[in-house]
Amino acid sequence: MSIIYDSDAKTFKLSTQRSEYQFVIGPYGFLLHLHYGASVGGQNMSYLLHQADRGFCMNPYDAGNDRTFSLDFLPQEYPTVGVGDYRVPAIEVINSDGSMALDLRYQSHKIISDKYGVEGMPSLYEETLGEAETLEVVLLDRVSSIEVKLLYGVFSEKDVITRSTVIRNLGGADMRITKAASVSLDLLRGDLDLLHFHGRHAMEREIERTTVISGVQTLGSRRGTSSHQQNPGFILSTRDANEEHGECWGLNLVYSGNFSANIERSQTSQTRAVLGLGDRSFQWTLSPGESFFTPEAVMSFSGDGFAKLSHNFHRAVRHNVCRGKHKLSSRPILLNSWEGVYFDFTGAKLLQIAESAKEIGAEMLVMDDGWFGDRFDDNRALGDWTVNEEKLGCSLKELVEGVNERGLKFGIWVEPEMVSEDSDLYREHKDWALQIPSRNPVRGRNQLVLDLSRENIRDFLYQRMCEIFDSAPIEYVKWDMNRSITDWHSPLLSASKQGELPHRYVLGLYDLMKKLTERYPNILFEGCSGGGGRFDLGMLCYQPQIWCSDNTDAINRLKIQYGTSFFYPASSVGSHVSASPNHQTGRSSSLNTRAAVAAAGSFGYELDVAKMTKAEKAEALALTEQYKKFRPLVHDGLYYRLSSPYDPTGVIAWQFAAEDESAALLTVVAADVAANPSCIYLRLKGLSNNKTYACGDAIYSGAALMNAGFKIAPLTGDYPAEVFYFKEV
Ligand code: DGJ
Repeated sequence: MSIIYDSDAKTFKLSTQRSEYQFVIGPYGFLLHLHYGASVGGQNMSYLLHQADRGFCMNPYDAGNDRTFSLDFLPQEYPTVGVGDYRVPAIEVINSDGSMALDLRYQSHKIISDKYGVEGMPSLYEETLGEAETLEVVLLDRVSSIEVKLLYGVFSEKDVITRSTVIRNLGGADMRITKAASVSLDLLRGDLDLLHFHGRHAMEREIERTTVISGVQTLGSRRGTSSHQQNPGFILSTRDANEEHGECWGLNLVYSGNFSANIERSQTSQTRAVLGLGDRSFQWTLSPGESFFTPEAVMSFSGDGFAKLSHNFHRAVRHNVCRGKHKLSSRPILLNSWEGVYFDFTGAKLLQIAESAKEIGAEMLVMDDGWFGDRFDDNRALGDWTVNEEKLGCSLKELVEGVNERGLKFGIWVEPEMVSEDSDLYREHKDWALQIPSRNPVRGRNQLVLDLSRENIRDFLYQRMCEIFDSAPIEYVKWDMNRSITDWHSPLLSASKQGELPHRYVLGLYDLMKKLTERYPNILFEGCSGGGGRFDLGMLCYQPQIWCSDNTDAINRLKIQYGTSFFYPASSVGSHVSASPNHQTGRSSSLNTRAAVAAAGSFGYELDVAKMTKAEKAEALALTEQYKKFRPLVHDGLYYRLSSPYDPTGVIAWQFAAEDESAALLTVVAADVAANPSCIYLRLKGLSNNKTYACGDAIYSGAALMNAGFKIAPLTGDYPAEVFYFKEV
């Protein structure tokens, strides 16, 4: 039993292997948070609640003359507006009478022996029956008759707790929701750091660590996607926390659209983190009898630093987020045509590429953008999903068969959510694109966005995709999405409901993805949004890997992949070896270094193999074979960040360790080299103190490698990289 209700103390105790979460039905029915952290052995933590008569702290009317009870400093489970708490709320509504107060009090609760689901959206699921339990707590505002159901999913073995909320209008008139968080977490301390992952196109998920300040720090996206600029995952940690020590709390959202996260340090030095929909990027009208489901949030606590926190998330992503036959499979090593030939290819050229791809050990050829309609550049034809047989010189089926005959699987690129103004689809259905009447639309990459909230448009896309996927043995699909969304207006929605469109778009996208992934369980889908602009737990429910960034420069990728690794496992990270000099940065680096960096993910190539020399091909083949050997370790192993790309030493190291401690893979890359350098000793992780390991001809004890370290010989040259494999002997 991971959820226990103590009816005497009125406490709820949610326990996982290494964490405990507690809250209480407090005085007057307010739900007060007590603890989320290391186990407290089931102790009732209500004694932590501090009551004092503080100036300018409001008291609920029911408290009578008790001036010590104020929601302004009591920790809560789902804080609201208008009841005396002036901190960031989890929910904001406009009641039918125009007032904004919401006074939620406990009504009832239920403990359920499996995991709840979220209507219309993906959420974490139980991989094995009985893996998770659900707690449902119902709260009610008696005046407006707005009911809020808090859902808690406890994955005890995974050290993960999920949260979601269902808001129901039990009143007689429409009300409006303007903020609906999935989670609110009040921690009784104000001495924390915030680690978040910001960036831009081609430089996603750079890490920033700041002090949680007095006041509110807000992260989020209003771009219609989870965005390159700010990932929904963030971490709160104690100031001393590092990879191995200290307490940290990770929060992330199973959602791919607009989101908002607020981190507030209050007047009484407590920390509140709120994550979900809201902050002027969301609104929803709820008519009598209707329910609204928030996306799901995922939380995990580690008392042993960031590595453990990442392991918790990696496991949950691989086992409880990703679905279908590919979630744990060895992903194919693919050669993607994009950076090799861009739009400039024919069927014959692709077959040549397939032949050379085979020579370097690739397992799949992916035909990227440019195979359909009049798509000779990125200004036209999105929406015209018919194979351009004239350009290819053959049918898709003939091409795929040709690729298969050459010993490779075949994958294809699509960007179904978009339409070009210069396309037959747009000429026929102008009104299918998101556009505000009487205004010119805002263009992005010279393309517009289809209104996925509309069922007929989704049906059209479903049909078109099915025709393509059925026409040939396609085993992989790269699902791209190349602009942020503007022009939020849909002709099917009344004026008062236009603000719902960003969320309705995401619901539409999930509906389409669900149908397609269910119909094509054998196809491996890879997500992409100009690289990693939609790298989130929502997309990972349908696409077990995501193209991490349009930036394939190995040295820039060190930062991008480092930031990505905090929440997302290596198996989910699409990572390719591209040409040198690199097309984004112009930097030259060796094939060995490019492959070492790409090998920290789902590996592939993205270059014109025909342009490689014989020697380069031979080297590439050896590097591919090496990756194949290590692939299970990369996909299934525990990932350790041994040093940071932000360290001034310029030496970046990471490691994969087999869960059974039988093997490890260490990669070291120097983003900078120095004359007369200091010795580098790397303490390995995840081995056994009692085992012995061979690395090349040398033998080491696990204890020596972990407690004293492995010595790296001085690295010289331009961005050198080395890979070391340790095997139990
Ligand atoms: C953006 C993607 O991130 C690239 O990899 C490539 O697929 C292009 N789109 C194609 O237009």
